[in-house]
Amino acid sequence: MKIRLAEPYIDEKIKRKILDVIDSKHYVEGRYTREFEEKFSGYIGVRYSIAVSSGTSSLLLILRALDIGPGDKVAVPDFTFIATLSQGVLLGAKPVLIDVDYETMCMDPDDLKKKMDYKVKAVIPVHLFGHPAPMDEILEIAKEYGAYVIEDAAQAHGAKYKGRYVGGIGDVGYFSLYPSKNMGVYGEGGIITTNDEEIARRVRRLKNHGVEDGEIKEFGYNMKFNEINAVVALETLKYLPEWNERRRRNAELYREYLSGIDIRLPTQREYAYHVYNLYTIKTGRRDELAKELKKEGIGYGIYYDKPLHKLEIVKELIGEKSLPVSDKLSREVISLPVHPFLSQSDIEKVSKVVKKVHS
Ligand SMILES: Cc1ncc(COP(=O)(O)O)c(C=O)c1O
Repeated sequence: MKIRLAEPYIDEKIKRKILDVIDSKHYVEGRYTREFEEKFSGYIGVRYSIAVSSGTSSLLLILRALDIGPGDKVAVPDFTFIATLSQGVLLGAKPVLIDVDYETMCMDPDDLKKKMDYKVKAVIPVHLFGHPAPMDEILEIAKEYGAYVIEDAAQAHGAKYKGRYVGGIGDVGYFSLYPSKNMGVYGEGGIITTNDEEIARRVRRLKNHGVEDGEIKEFGYNMKFNEINAVVALETLKYLPEWNERRRRNAELYREYLSGIDIRLPTQREYAYHVYNLYTIKTGRRDELAKELKKEGIGYGIYYDKPLHKLEIVKELIGEKSLPVSDKLSREVISLPVHPFLSQSDIEKVSKVVKKVHS
């Protein structure tokens, strides 16, 4: 692959720090994990951050901390990664699938309003591809029904909604630290953010076998963070604002190079600071474009080729549903490389292929 869809950041300083951790003989939940949590809280503007083993385990811990289980419903957008849905299902909650806005591809508050009832205990908006979901509308609807709002910010480190960092707007939020995200580690990782002391306390003990003050208080998990990933995360967090600016610059270049052809470019709503984890366009010629990109050695991704309601395991659970916008998106979307280590000429090369297919 000549131009990759995502690129991990590797430098000598990080390698040296990893060697220091190895020499320290302290590998799990030590001073680097604490320092990373503090710095991340400072960056997002929340009181508590809790580093865990992945984005998916973040959501499981949050749902357990909110005592969500059988008899409860959880509202999730239909157009997202399976993890947003699966963790609630595993705890016995029933999913309510919400359609999305065609332009932002995030949860549609009008559809949420139609489908809300008092059994919905949590609403999980996803800041998809780095674009913030419409939080004011979602928070208002959730409040009316007494539901928690959990922000899925797995793809949106540093994105802002009306000037506020996502992950610090709802009751609780979480981020994935998978290497392809806006900031990541060398392996799996996740981090939970909240201003709520009780939620923070519960997830902290649940991620460590239910232990609090040296005693086992409830049945928990082993979803702790490790010190090697903490030194990597401390470094990548430093670069995050600059990398997001570069992603935005690359998006601007695409906007310039791809104007006037028959595709839909990503939208940035007036309330949004979009951080382009992926540059997802909509086209009627996706197969042809994918073939050409592959031929030219350019990485691409199709997220998501199946909306959640079309998965057999989901149909078995909630039956056939109609979610037309999400359906349409699943047929049209394709994500192009936009990561911070691309040059202007890389963006030009990708754009040329897109233009050729659409001319
Ligand atoms: C929207 C969304 N939610 C949740 C996750 C889960 O994160 P992780 O892969 O760190 O478990 C991802 C990961 O890609 C994601 O994209």
